[in-house]
Amino acid sequence: MTHKHGHAARLVCEGLTFAYPGQESFLDGIRFTLESGERLGLVGPNGSGKTTLLLCLTGLLKAAGRRQLDSEWLPPGESDGAHIGMVFQSAEDMLFMPSVLEDVAFGPQNLGLKPAEARARAEQELERLGIAHLAGAHGLKLSGGQQRLAALATVLAMEPPVLLLDEPTANLDEPSRRRLLDLLAELPGSILVATHDTAAIRRLCSRVLVMDAGAIVAEKPAAALGA
Ligand SMILES: Nc1ncnc2c1ncn2[C@@H]1O[C@H](COP(=O)(O)OP(=O)(O)OP(=O)(O)O)[C@@H](O)[C@H]1O
Ligand SMILES: [Mg+2]
Repeated sequence: MTHKHGHAARLVCEGLTFAYPGQESFLDGIRFTLESGERLGLVGPNGSGKTTLLLCLTGLLKAAGRRQLDSEWLPPGESDGAHIGMVFQSAEDMLFMPSVLEDVAFGPQNLGLKPAEARARAEQELERLGIAHLAGAHGLKLSGGQQRLAALATVLAMEPPVLLLDEPTANLDEPSRRRLLDLLAELPGSILVATHDTAAIRRLCSRVLVMDAGAIVAEKPAAALGA
């Protein structure tokens, strides 16, 4: 699959079904479409399955059912962060290099950019997120909010055509949160964002999926979400 740098893609899932090992089926036949360039919200109570669904969409959890990216069907369990990028709810899991700059340059370099280009892309991303001063820091020695921003940078630096965000505004101070939302509003890619931050959803999204107990139980306009 060729990487469409800076473009949006449409993601369709059909009959997505998943059970954690030793448990009964949790997600059962999930179906929806993230349109190309759309910002789609994903809401629901703790434990309703938002993170599980995002992980199944990436392929990091191997679900039954079908995923389609633009016109291409993806094999079950195939995960390709260049096309479907995900920022984890646990940001610290995304930081494993000796410095934040290397964490962020890692993805672009894997996409084939020369080390100097990947580094420049990483620096630019850190700048956009307001954490240029953390470039030399070790990711695991950052605060929770700093880790969140660094984790976002690792994925945004790859400019994936589909972006899955799990609680992107968690732990962020108000200026950082606003800077992030401004940036996300301008991104070329399609975005599915799972969050309890309803103000962020109303700012970014026009449509929201509501999950409960492993199912999508409603779809509504973002404007209809409570404050
Ligand atoms: N690794 C795991 N093994 C077994 N069960 C799990 C695992 N991870 C999550 N679950 C279960 O799956 C269900 C859905 O969890 P999930 O993390 O997808 O919810 P969520 O909607 O993202 O919640 P939150 O709003 O708290 O982030 C929960 O009942 C949870 O206990
Ligand atoms: Mg979650």
